[in-house]
Amino acid sequence: MKKAAKITGFGGYVPSRVIKNTDLEKMLDTTDEWIQQRTGIVERRWVTDDQSTSDLAVEAAKIAIQNAKIDVKDIDLIVVATSSPDTDIPGCAAFVQAKLGLPGIPYFDIRQACSGFIYGVSLANLYITSGVYKCALVIGAEVQSKGLDKTPNGKGVSIIFADGAGAVILQATDVKDETKDPHVLTTHLHADGSSASELWMPVPGSAFGPVRITHEMIDSGKIYPQMNGRLVFTHAVTKMPEVLNEALTATGLKLDDVDMHFFHQANTRINQKICEDMKIPVEKAHTTINKFGNTTAATIPLGMYDAFQEGKIKPGMIISMVAFGAGFTWASALVRY
Ligand code: UT7
Repeated sequence: MKKAAKITGFGGYVPSRVIKNTDLEKMLDTTDEWIQQRTGIVERRWVTDDQSTSDLAVEAAKIAIQNAKIDVKDIDLIVVATSSPDTDIPGCAAFVQAKLGLPGIPYFDIRQACSGFIYGVSLANLYITSGVYKCALVIGAEVQSKGLDKTPNGKGVSIIFADGAGAVILQATDVKDETKDPHVLTTHLHADGSSASELWMPVPGSAFGPVRITHEMIDSGKIYPQMNGRLVFTHAVTKMPEVLNEALTATGLKLDDVDMHFFHQANTRINQKICEDMKIPVEKAHTTINKFGNTTAATIPLGMYDAFQEGKIKPGMIISMVAFGAGFTWASALVRY
């Protein structure tokens, strides 16, 4: 018998405010046609002024708790992956913990952007398999819309990013039959910090002088995410298959054994290229980018909740999660549900 962690609940939440491509045409000097052709996005959700990242995270968490049929008090670890926390100090997880009414239990903010949720699953999985904690809430949540350049200068970036949250409950389990019992089979994490400035938001930060933010920095647009889109794209289509293959090799599974793939939703063309190169039937790769855009750390758990709600995730299925993003970071996980 082996100690392991299994997913027992999925949750997801997006704000109700729908932003269609046509809403961005004048603001960003773009067109619906360009956005759809280059990214696959049709619409996305943006919060209203009074909503924060932890608000979305808590809504997703409540659904995951309900689906796992646990009491909120059963949770003994919180991990929140986000690159858009409510505040820089103390991050996002603090507010999630307080809003869920769980004083005393530890929490982490994970800052690995698009790969953050898989980094979070990996961390929680290790804590559970080592016997330290029994029930982890792992969330990916973002409010990107409040940090985007909403002028034509931002058209290369602001068209893709969006707001949303997804969550899972991971619980301790004893695995008797590795080929049948639900559990996290493997996780693989990678990073290359030498590419940090290829996709970053430099300000506020400690890298540029005596203070973290100045009016000049704001005026020059350093407060907005900046991305070398083509470079990120070419790395994503190489590293995502590589890290998925690494997970398959580690488990001895074949690509055909995987029932559903949850690829990070950055650009439909990235995932189409991966499916084409790896000969994965496109219907096995669940897509939400058309309706939710790129919600960074949230795309994978939000996608899993979306598929779960559609009845596509069934007990016994093998699920992959694969991401690439800022850092650069890339990661994969294989799970039997
Ligand atoms: O989730 C985090 C990880 N991020 C990613 O994985 C994103 C990966 N990259 C991408 O998805 C794509 O690079 C983008 C969607 C961001 C951009 O698409 P692209 O096909 O790489 O466009 P580009 O930046 O190379 O720009 C091509 C042209 C340029 O015009 P010129 O110089 O050829 O005349 C841009 O100015 O398209 C122009 N352009 C736009 N035109 C209309 C860029 N953005 C827009 C826009 N609307 N929104």
